[in-house]
Amino acid sequence: MNTHLQFRLSKKTPQQNLLFLLALAIVPLAFSQTPPVAPPDDATVRERANLLLKQMTLDEKLGQLSQLFDFAPSKAIDDAVSTGKLGSLLFVTDPAEINRLQHLAVDHSRLHIPLIFGFDVIHGFRTIFPVPIAMAASWDPSAATKAQTIAAKEARAVGIDWAFAPMLDIARDPRWGRIVEGAGEDPYLGSAMAAAQVRGFQGDYIGAPDHILACMKHFAGYGAAIGGRDYDEAYLPETLLQNVYLKPFHAAVKAGIGSAMSAYLDLNDVPATGNRWLLHDVLRDDWRFTGFVVSDANSVKSLQNHGYAKDVYEAGLYAFNAGVNMEMAISFTAYSKSLATALEKNQITVQQIEDAARPILEMKIRLGLFEHPYVYEARAHEILATPEHRTAARLAAERTAVLLRNGGSLLPLKTSAYKKIAVLGPLADSQVDTLGSWVFQDDLAETVTILAGLRNRLGAQADLSYAPGVQIRRKIPSFFDEIFHLKPQPVWTTEQSKDEMSKAVGLARSSDLTILVLGEAQNMSGEAASRESLDLPGQEEKLLESVAATGKPVVLVLFNGRPLNIKWASEHIPAILDAWYPGTQGGNAVANLLFGEAVPGGKLPITWPRDVGQVPIYYAHNTTQAPENQEKRYWGEESTPLYPFGYGLSYSKFAFSNLKLSRSEIKPGETIDVSVDLENTGATSGDEVAQLYIHQQYGSTSRPVRELKGFERVSLAPREKKIVHFSLGNEELTYWSTAKKDWVEEPATFDVWVGADSTAKLHANFAITQ
Ligand code: BGC
Repeated sequence: MNTHLQFRLSKKTPQQNLLFLLALAIVPLAFSQTPPVAPPDDATVRERANLLLKQMTLDEKLGQLSQLFDFAPSKAIDDAVSTGKLGSLLFVTDPAEINRLQHLAVDHSRLHIPLIFGFDVIHGFRTIFPVPIAMAASWDPSAATKAQTIAAKEARAVGIDWAFAPMLDIARDPRWGRIVEGAGEDPYLGSAMAAAQVRGFQGDYIGAPDHILACMKHFAGYGAAIGGRDYDEAYLPETLLQNVYLKPFHAAVKAGIGSAMSAYLDLNDVPATGNRWLLHDVLRDDWRFTGFVVSDANSVKSLQNHGYAKDVYEAGLYAFNAGVNMEMAISFTAYSKSLATALEKNQITVQQIEDAARPILEMKIRLGLFEHPYVYEARAHEILATPEHRTAARLAAERTAVLLRNGGSLLPLKTSAYKKIAVLGPLADSQVDTLGSWVFQDDLAETVTILAGLRNRLGAQADLSYAPGVQIRRKIPSFFDEIFHLKPQPVWTTEQSKDEMSKAVGLARSSDLTILVLGEAQNMSGEAASRESLDLPGQEEKLLESVAATGKPVVLVLFNGRPLNIKWASEHIPAILDAWYPGTQGGNAVANLLFGEAVPGGKLPITWPRDVGQVPIYYAHNTTQAPENQEKRYWGEESTPLYPFGYGLSYSKFAFSNLKLSRSEIKPGETIDVSVDLENTGATSGDEVAQLYIHQQYGSTSRPVRELKGFERVSLAPREKKIVHFSLGNEELTYWSTAKKDWVEEPATFDVWVGADSTAKLHANFAITQ
């Protein structure tokens, strides 16, 4: 018998030993640290969970339904863990502390049920990848899988078993700060990125070595917060819910995701955390989801704030009845206050409590936590931020940048042409802002700013000077700054501000080229970071215009989690590269892109408005009675976007031709093949994203003017040609008809366009006939 097992047995009474050995007999446990190599079958998992449930007291069952934040060790948490009154903790990231807590659960609690440790592993754990909206801009699901595979490996290395990601909220209003955490406005792209991230986090199955459980959030509709104001209510009609907002979640369920997080928001007057239609009818009945639902932080108790529950007791009861298995709370949980009483009052049954706890236990079993509850503390540091992980982060940042403008082919820059370069802007040398929001584990010393990346790349070949030029800050501070321990910079006096501005403009004047890094600081996008404006913050616009007035060439690099108002820049600054928040290796990636070592190939996953007054604006709007003057809806400004969905330039040129459909008519359920020739007609190797859009011309309800239904990112050498194939079948041609109250594939004529963005011109059509 190995020593680990001896240790675990020696701590128990003879009766406990018997039960423990009984459990061992059901599934032979290997007490080595080698994780399972194949998924246990569903029946075995169920049997083990049921066996545990049979032995559990009511308190122990309820304990599994509770999750608490753990910012610092506390006696209350230690006591709850060692008595089996807590199923999960979040925010513990130190492997030694994770092991300490896990020992309390495994060695001290009566049934030795391990904790599951959750964390916001959003775009990397220690190695930070570009923010999720940027990953979507890669239009490369395999890049997202790779990034989340590394994130999972690093998180698991310290003992985290569960990521609160991916965020799958469709967002069509860039005032909403959390647009940065998702894949943008489109359900098709969003679904592809959802499935890709589930694969990355969970691997081939839940419990795969070096992988963790994923959690789709925030279920659902959170991205439609009215006015873009985070946490505010959303009103989403059935057609938008079914055809747009729920789609990526369904894709994640189909990809096998094991958990979901209920949203904060009040959806159509029923808060998501108390919404049985969402959490039960859709999720479990329609989609056959078998994992578990965790609430968002304190969102069970918030059912009172919404005016939905009378008190904490009702809040717990309503969330439980709606289908929330586990309550995430900052201090005490409503569940710990209500469920035992609700049982006494016969408002809920033991069966319901067991049904809620079972999927949580099953996930712990699948993850191998009973066999391998602890983490190798020494190994953790070998895995975090390895050179391979950093290279992957750089490649991801190169793949996600979107080239918005390249007048006179200023980019790529020729090293020999610019001897004196001014690198300006408040974000040009800010490590924390290079990373983006939801980064807690970074080692800032590892993070390469744009200035540092340019220095790495150019060495002695150019004389680089740097000045921030302006300071930017939120008027209303972010509560995340406290969590990040970010101290605000001392505010410049009016005199200093003037001096800094003229210093920066002076550097631009005396240089051959300026690289200006502007946009939003990381705390200006993310949770609780909504904006009433999309303008460049503070005096950035003034800096931009003053630098441009020097007449020297200017490259604008943007840091942003949302489209910003760059109307002036789009007419006056020759080269604009959207780097988003590019992550740990951002500076090296941007330097490679600017100097042509890498070629931009990212595409916008969101429509870029001209002005905030246009929002919400998205390409898949409905046909209207006056489509011919769609761009003239406002009298003061064109109502078209500044840059359309799917847009992005390259250093090369590409041509689409020869759009072919395998058939001109199909019956419902049949498939049509679409092919197009894509050729690199430029002089540089590069990537183009072939995008396929459809339009159902008429039907039982009106349909959007265009809907993305296929895409492929293709790398081509100069003159190289590739035939890109798509297929359109039931999956792509079916939609939820509010008239029919059903999913329908209707007889109609369909337009098909293929091209480089959502304004693609190459056209064909086909019909579905009865
Ligand atoms: C956010 C979630 C997050 C949770 C835990 C909440 O405020 O809405 O997205 O996973 O906190 O940190």
